[in-house]
Amino acid sequence: MHTPIKGFSKLSRDAKIEWIVNEIFDGNQSVVELLNSYLHQDAKVQKLHNEFIENTITNYYLPLGVAPNFLINDTVYTIPMAIEESSVVAAAAKAAQFWLKRGGFKTTILGTEKIGHVHFMYSGDREKLRSFFNDNRVNLINSTDDITANMRARGGGITDITLVDKTAELEDYYQLDVRFQTCDSMGANFINSCLERLAESLTNTIASDTRFSEEEKQVQIVMRILSNYTPQCLVRAEVSCPIEDLTEEEGVSPQEFAEKFYRAVRIAEIEPYRATTHNKGIFNGIDAVVIATGNDFRAVEAAGHTHASKNGKYSSLTHCSIKDNTFRFWIEIPLSVGVVGGLTSLHPMVKFSHKLLGNPSAEELMGIIAASGLAQNFAALRALVTSGIQKGHMKMHLFNILNQLEATDEEKTFFVNYFKDKVVSHSAVVRKFCEMRQIPYESMIKK
Ligand code: MEV
Repeated sequence: MHTPIKGFSKLSRDAKIEWIVNEIFDGNQSVVELLNSYLHQDAKVQKLHNEFIENTITNYYLPLGVAPNFLINDTVYTIPMAIEESSVVAAAAKAAQFWLKRGGFKTTILGTEKIGHVHFMYSGDREKLRSFFNDNRVNLINSTDDITANMRARGGGITDITLVDKTAELEDYYQLDVRFQTCDSMGANFINSCLERLAESLTNTIASDTRFSEEEKQVQIVMRILSNYTPQCLVRAEVSCPIEDLTEEEGVSPQEFAEKFYRAVRIAEIEPYRATTHNKGIFNGIDAVVIATGNDFRAVEAAGHTHASKNGKYSSLTHCSIKDNTFRFWIEIPLSVGVVGGLTSLHPMVKFSHKLLGNPSAEELMGIIAASGLAQNFAALRALVTSGIQKGHMKMHLFNILNQLEATDEEKTFFVNYFKDKVVSHSAVVRKFCEMRQIPYESMIKK
């Protein structure tokens, strides 16, 4: 192992790379070439990337694909997706095509409220704190006026603030629970700035309030931070059709397909092992669009998984019903995303993605993202309850295997034709590859 380094962030890019190469790669200069080969040719764009984070040494590419033909609320979208997993974009496009002929996706915004907290400790009289808060609630909100002015002009701002007594769960623990509307921005910086001001106002106002003893005035602010759980920033996306319109698969009747699909969703609703994989598939679609549009996929995932556990047990984010000969499939998910601020006006591919979607509002984007998650889940379940996922997945994965084997373009064309009517597996590809090149299979399986 190498030794720790002090002041790494202060080094120039070249010096950082030199240190990494010497300390970790035994001075191998091809590492420098590799890192340089991933730099952007336009110095201005590279500078942007350098400045997104600390210690940038190069770029990390993900493919940006598009899934066309998404009919959402009667508008057709071509959806940008940044993701490395082979079959995700193909599956989204297939599901979009399927629902295009059946009325498309309908989305509804159920709320857009964001939440933040000042977490603080107060060991004094509970009733005094309550009456203090009631007297000063408006003053506290007003103390953020300079921060909220622009947001208020756009129709957002702080919508509510309450004092929450948490002392039954943790001694002396209280919260200011603050509700926000952040319009077209995700609002994390705005919310955190407001919370920092509110905390300062809280301590100052308590310190000058004569109802408190000197000891009671010793309020300890522990944290001032937004919550990534936004149960009231919620969107619903739905597809539905008569059962007889359901399947295009040969050998499965629409009724049988509907029932198996419904059971697959029920299993994910009651079985956390399955729910985790089921929801992972949903996030294949959601994260890809969240990343392409420059939003925070960790925040979206965190909220989604908390929502999936809201009834005390981890469960499916999607639901299905079969009633009156109608198949209905829907998702309800908290999605706190923005179309202004953050990377949206900086990253060239993020700007492109927003333009590709027709520069949607934050609410429209919530619907688009929810529809992508629902489409992804539909595609996965459709495959799982019929042919299995490996057929489609491995077909897309074939190129990864061939690239690992360093196959030529000619060989790739051969393999695509060869596997047209066969199930792709890693070992089947390697075996055929060895047969073609007349090399022993055993020598390749280590590759
Ligand atoms: C693979 O990335 C995602 C799936 O496993 C999702 C699922 O099982 O529903 C196919």
